[in-house]
Amino acid sequence: MLILGIETSCDETALALVENGRWIRGTQMVSSIASHQRFGGVVPEIASRAHVELFTCELETLLSDAGVSGRDIDRIAVTCGPGLPGSLLAGVIAAKSLGWIWKKPVVRVNHLHAHLYAAVMGLPQWPLDEPMVGLVISGGHTALVQMKGMSRFSLLGQTRDDAVGEAFDKVAKLLGLGFPGGPEIEKTARLGNDRAYRFSVPKIKGGSDYDFSFSGIKTAVLYTVQRPSPERGVSGPKLPAAQSLKPELVADLAASFQRAVVDEVVMKSVKACRSLRVSRLVVGGGVIANRPLRERLKEVCGDSKIEVAIPPMGLCTDNGAMIAGLGFLLDPATAAELTAVPDLAMGMN
Ligand code: KG4
Ligand code: ZN
Repeated sequence: MLILGIETSCDETALALVENGRWIRGTQMVSSIASHQRFGGVVPEIASRAHVELFTCELETLLSDAGVSGRDIDRIAVTCGPGLPGSLLAGVIAAKSLGWIWKKPVVRVNHLHAHLYAAVMGLPQWPLDEPMVGLVISGGHTALVQMKGMSRFSLLGQTRDDAVGEAFDKVAKLLGLGFPGGPEIEKTARLGNDRAYRFSVPKIKGGSDYDFSFSGIKTAVLYTVQRPSPERGVSGPKLPAAQSLKPELVADLAASFQRAVVDEVVMKSVKACRSLRVSRLVVGGGVIANRPLRERLKEVCGDSKIEVAIPPMGLCTDNGAMIAGLGFLLDPATAAELTAVPDLAMGMN
């Protein structure tokens, strides 16, 4: 079964053709990120307009490169949520229109589930119906879930404040690095000492043992940056901090921040697997592109006899292949069900 996947939940207009949920026949992705960079974050109106402008051209290229026409496509899978309302709507309307023109069924896909599916897409031996723990770490979400296959999820914990990717983006901004911040922090951290600062994650009162909180580390970085200390190159809180920072300090802060976040995310995931007696962990979302995190997860899971599924680099951040892939396992929606749901929760379809 050949599925066209459409992903437009944020700034990427991403399309893909995937055969039987596994084999990627073609992908297209254009991000409007360059237009958002000077604002330091994604501007919803710019993102949704870019999807409308880019979609048709990307679709034509995808189909002609793969030597495929609308007739060869068996179904269309589209991200319905969560995401930016206007961006989601652009994709859902495109999917509905193509479904109507080509007379093909359309499947609704939860973006967060698709991030987890991306991890197992390239692993034909990975059982899809066994108990697993799932960790979603993206720009907008951070959640640990208990999974029974790819369709039943129960929330173990989530972030109380910033999502992991959001924390990377905000700390990068504090340090005067570019946007999106995750790759910038990773690059800068390579030059720094990850033990220069001890940024511990605060204990969370109440709620679940598996909840996360990252705003405390972000604030600790901010205070360190603003502390007057001429020998470090920091002149005081009133100056725009990032401009007065020495590169060595920026590298040490980036490395120490990254280490604290990696330790927290790895520790909670492994703890969940151990206490639920689950031996499979699936991780998805843009932040799993972070190499130190990938390496640490593999190392700790190896020591704990937990099998871990991590997406290949090209499937970590938003892409159409994970949408088309998961679309293979789901039932088509009715026309009335095809709506954008910006706050679609984990476990909902
Ligand atoms: O999953 P994604 O593409 O979009 C959402 O669904 O949110 O994730 C984007 C997030 C951004 O916050 C970005 O900074 C982060 O993933 N990210 C990274 C890395 N690459 C992307 N974070 C840490 N290290 C990276 N290498
Ligand atoms: Zn995403």
